[in-house]
Amino acid sequence: MENNQERGQWNDKLGFLLAVIGSAVGLGNIWRYPYLLYKDGGGAFLVPYFIAIITAGIPLVLLEYGFGHKFRGSAPLSYTRANRKFEWIGWVPAFASMVILSYYCVILSWAANYLIKSFNFGWSADPNAYFFDSFLQLSDGPFSFSHFSWPILIGIILIWGINWYYTYRGVSSGIEKVNKFMMPTLIVIMIIIVIRGVTLEGATLGLNALFTPDFSRLGDIRVWLDAYGQVFFSLSLAMGALITYASYLPRKTDLNNSAFITAFANCGFEFLAAIGVFGILGFMATQQNVPIDDVVTQSVGLAFVAFPQVFNLMGAFWGKVMGVLFFASLIFAGITSSLSLIETFTSSFIDKTGADRKKVATVAAIIGLLLSSMYATGAGLYLLDIIDHYVNAYVIVSLGMVEAILIGWAVGASKMREHANAISYIRLGSWWDIMIKFVTPVVLAIMLVLSVVEEVRNGYEGYPTTALLAYGVLMIVVLVVIGLVLSKRPWHDPRMVEHSGFEHDYYQTDEL
Ligand code: PHE
Repeated sequence: MENNQERGQWNDKLGFLLAVIGSAVGLGNIWRYPYLLYKDGGGAFLVPYFIAIITAGIPLVLLEYGFGHKFRGSAPLSYTRANRKFEWIGWVPAFASMVILSYYCVILSWAANYLIKSFNFGWSADPNAYFFDSFLQLSDGPFSFSHFSWPILIGIILIWGINWYYTYRGVSSGIEKVNKFMMPTLIVIMIIIVIRGVTLEGATLGLNALFTPDFSRLGDIRVWLDAYGQVFFSLSLAMGALITYASYLPRKTDLNNSAFITAFANCGFEFLAAIGVFGILGFMATQQNVPIDDVVTQSVGLAFVAFPQVFNLMGAFWGKVMGVLFFASLIFAGITSSLSLIETFTSSFIDKTGADRKKVATVAAIIGLLLSSMYATGAGLYLLDIIDHYVNAYVIVSLGMVEAILIGWAVGASKMREHANAISYIRLGSWWDIMIKFVTPVVLAIMLVLSVVEEVRNGYEGYPTTALLAYGVLMIVVLVVIGLVLSKRPWHDPRMVEHSGFEHDYYQTDEL
């Protein structure tokens, strides 16, 4: 019989909230959002961004909380309970999570290496050359693995070790505990970075550049797609993470209120990060006497090239302090996100096979470690770039669309809304059904079509088509095949899928 001890449950609501906010706040907030805000019209970008949050972000967070809570299961179990035919859809995010993790943990390994380098500016006086030539030893193409980096592998082992440990400990004594420590610490670190950032000479230059609205950008459909893409990735949507975390909630809990809090907290953190990053970039532009445009980058270029350059400029004391704080912030934000991805995978297998969490967590960590090791080669950055592109442009978007359609239409948006409203203080109106049934699927379908058209026309970043097929397209095919194959396998206890929803005694074991 399923019970609380086996399935796990949050100790308290704060624990749940910090865990979902921990999942949402990640690399996406720190290194992608500031750049998008700047590139896509500054203050004007807030228009599509908030529209995306209201029309897709919040409705889908609400949907995923309600879905995981009502059906009390990991993504495959929840989908199966909703309708047996949907099971395979639930396995796709379980494995796609492992794909994201495979590179997410590599970036965290780089950050761990750079945290140590912060103590002596180990990235040398030329961080650009250092990062690509000495640290990554980037090869000349995505099929040339050339070299294997031990420091990166050691970092990967460390990060996977941490991930394994907290997953192994379980929901309340592992994931919840570490979020309760890391999230408040992360916020303190970010506040220190922001205060130092905005008090640097030239910071206002960066902030003005960041926020000066350019409304003409709103005519570009790409800007809108960026806004939706960012909201999806940043709120951890469509990957099953929120469904899984919500399945550990007790029966009576205010779902709607939690969804709004999650979205606002994630959004607030994104702002904070943008202010900190642009204050620092403004300082850099001032010191080097170049226009702000020359120093603005995102992702890898921001964290491992531009920022080390700024730390060099800050002098021995502040340079080191800010280096340590910045890389620590990436690691903390990243670990709490990666835990939610591992949990998506782990809980799917625990539900399906009835195996012990400790075993499943160990197997997951070993598979993850092996996958991540591929990125410790000279081709690592190429792999990462291609796979990340395919995950973001296709996997997440299609899963979000399918999720909205299946749950909105087949399970029934109004049924889901009733479930959430019955236990929540804020009641959702029929506007929510419209968002889920029409607006979200349509927007995501447009995104998908545009991405395919763009890809067919221009490829991606000049990579050879064979590489895109091998790492991107094949990966997606494998995800679907795994989903279909696993959905043919029986559940360890057939009674698990016979009943659905909280209505039934079978899993009504957890009164508050
Ligand atoms: N939201 C995380 C970030 O912003 C990434 C993530 C995506 C985590 C999907 C879990 C699921 O970095």
